[in-house]
Amino acid sequence: MKFNQSNIKKAKKYLNKNYCIGVPTETVYGLAANAYSNYAVKKIFRLKKRPKSNPLIVHYSNINDLKKDCLINNNFLKLYKKFSPGPLTYVLNLKKNSKISKVVTNKDNSLAVRFPKHKIFKQLLNKLDYPLAAPSANISTRLSSVQASDVNEEFGNSIKYVLDGGKCSIGLESTIIDLTNKPRILRLGGLEVSKIEKILGKKLKININPKKKISPGQSQLHYSPGIPLRMNVIKPKKNEAYILVKKKKISPSNYFYLSKKNNLKEAAKNLYSFLRKIKNEGYKSIAVEKVQNIGIGQSINDRLKRASKF
Ligand code: TXA
Ligand code: MG
Repeated sequence: MKFNQSNIKKAKKYLNKNYCIGVPTETVYGLAANAYSNYAVKKIFRLKKRPKSNPLIVHYSNINDLKKDCLINNNFLKLYKKFSPGPLTYVLNLKKNSKISKVVTNKDNSLAVRFPKHKIFKQLLNKLDYPLAAPSANISTRLSSVQASDVNEEFGNSIKYVLDGGKCSIGLESTIIDLTNKPRILRLGGLEVSKIEKILGKKLKININPKKKISPGQSQLHYSPGIPLRMNVIKPKKNEAYILVKKKKISPSNYFYLSKKNNLKEAAKNLYSFLRKIKNEGYKSIAVEKVQNIGIGQSINDRLKRASKF
């Protein structure tokens, strides 16, 4: 992993000039730009080919900076204490005098915010006098990036720089909780919902059904590897890539192990890079062994389900 202070300086230089750059986070790589600049944020939408109606997550290094832009409440404080920095995104109400670009939120009054844990990204945020809007670093509907080379594969020369922070330790996007009203989950992700429920002391509504879209990015066509994918497969077809989570006695070359010991955290970390690899190796379809629907397994299955809608 190439990392030193001069890389962070370089990243800062490009961001100050209103460029978009790739940044590492513990969940997935982001395509980052100054969240206070209309000009910079518009570029994110263009590069990703993202509909303007789909708002972005803004990343902060500390709660005092967040308070300049958003209204906070007790539920936020409880969760923030326990889970931030980390893979949890909060939807909060914007303050009237917030400096966040209207392009970020599509003029909505709410803002999705996150405090990333990745050391390098944190160091970068600490050096800036604005927060960073950063959606996942992929062309809209495609697979998210979990290493610097994925970001280059997605955007090539159309972005100036990718800050390399190695492979993402979680490998799935953050969990999103809406706190503007009665708390509800808008996206399953890197943080297990049961852990959030424990802190809030109640069961949470999970509003992730793409048919009743609440969060604009909840569309079915998401996280697509670009080839058909089938779930809960016991026996793959010949020539099909087979993704597994448990070691089998015989493993032909089309077998791809997300984990050999049914370790779901390890499986989550490997999911996107394996889907990308399988596609790049020229397979025409993917079969996936059943993944236990517990803990982070629920988030894995959510992504697989959406990927299977191709
Ligand atoms: O882990 C992550 O969250 C990564 C890293 C880079 O931080 N980011 C990420 O961003 O996954 P993105 O843009 O790919 O997904 C953000 C999701 C979208 O589905 C969007 O619709 C939703 O968050 N969202 C953003 N602002 C919202 C808001 N104000 N209310 C409801 N949903 C919102
Ligand atoms: Mg995304």
